[in-house]
Amino acid sequence: MATNKVLVTGASGGRQGKTGRHVSEMLLARGVAVRAFVHRRDERSERLDALGAEIVEGDFLDIRSVQRAVQGVSAVYFAYPVQDGLLDATAIMAVAAREAGVSRLIDLEMLVSSPDAPTPRMRQNYLSEQVFEWAGIGAAHVRATVFYENLRALSRLTLAAEGTIRLPWGNLGTVIPLVAGEDVARVAVGLLTKEQVPAGSSYPVIGAVVSLREIIETFGRVLGREVRYEEISDEEWRADALARGLSQHAVEHLSNLWRALRTMGERLQPERFEITDTIEKLGGAKPKPLETFVREDQEALAAEAARAAA
Ligand SMILES: NC(=O)c1ccc[n+]([C@@H]2O[C@H](COP(=O)([O-])OP(=O)(O)OC[C@H]3O[C@@H](n4cnc5c(N)ncnc54)[C@H](OP(=O)(O)O)[C@@H]3O)[C@@H](O)[C@H]2O)c1
Repeated sequence: MATNKVLVTGASGGRQGKTGRHVSEMLLARGVAVRAFVHRRDERSERLDALGAEIVEGDFLDIRSVQRAVQGVSAVYFAYPVQDGLLDATAIMAVAAREAGVSRLIDLEMLVSSPDAPTPRMRQNYLSEQVFEWAGIGAAHVRATVFYENLRALSRLTLAAEGTIRLPWGNLGTVIPLVAGEDVARVAVGLLTKEQVPAGSSYPVIGAVVSLREIIETFGRVLGREVRYEEISDEEWRADALARGLSQHAVEHLSNLWRALRTMGERLQPERFEITDTIEKLGGAKPKPLETFVREDQEALAAEAARAAA
């Protein structure tokens, strides 16, 4: 495709995979013009500005700001955070992108997207995909599994304070498909810059398939300390997560996701999930292993552990 300007939403990068930030940086490194859609200007947007991105402030839920942002771009990267409002944001982007003549929209979804998917957010993802397809804007879907960043966010506090990971993930044999946010961004960049991408196509992204036992061992090895897993009930996890400030939307999605993964992990064999070839084929790199991710994050984890011990 002609590598005209790409509008990248979520460009500052938030509390999860920071895929918008990675997509922006990767596109700029390839010489592709980027318009970075940011919620507000801050040091994160200054960094993108310094790298050469055009910065536009806006809100996914404010149609006027989205209409302004899509003017003159040929492609859009759409990554709406795990919070209320996905369907409104989808309709707004679909209308604005159609009016502006956008010919490619790559949207980030979760691994499973169907009317019967196990979480309410995944079922919304399915509807969102349909709306983008009806809009005739060349929509294609990146379907990513749970991010390493999510695992880190979920385990960080108890890991630092007590050396435990407390989750309702079943026994140590439960198998979890994971991926680095950076690898998800690589796939999106491959699709944003590829000559042809069939409208309505979808791309599963799994970078690692690991058991809970391997996750615990990896954290223990990298941190050089004993790490334990403590299985908690769904109710305990929900209460903890809400107390830590996770939104009702995220808690609803994640608690249903944990139940589905746990059930699949208990009932099915590890080969239920496979590392996908999308990261190498579209992203041009081997998937980042969990251990590499944890090592890169080691300093932050160690600092947190020191703070917790003080
Ligand atoms: N986490 C997972 O395990 C996982 C797995 C598969 C798929 N996904 C998908 O990944 C997507 C999230 O992408 P991500 O991890 O790259 O997100 P992220 O790191 O959490 O970043 C979200 C970005 O959205 C911006 N933002 C929030 N509300 C906004 C609004 N109303 N208007 C404009 N910008 C707004 C944030 O800006 P501020 O920080 O300035 O507010 C931030 O830059 C979701 O669609 C989710 O379904 C996640």
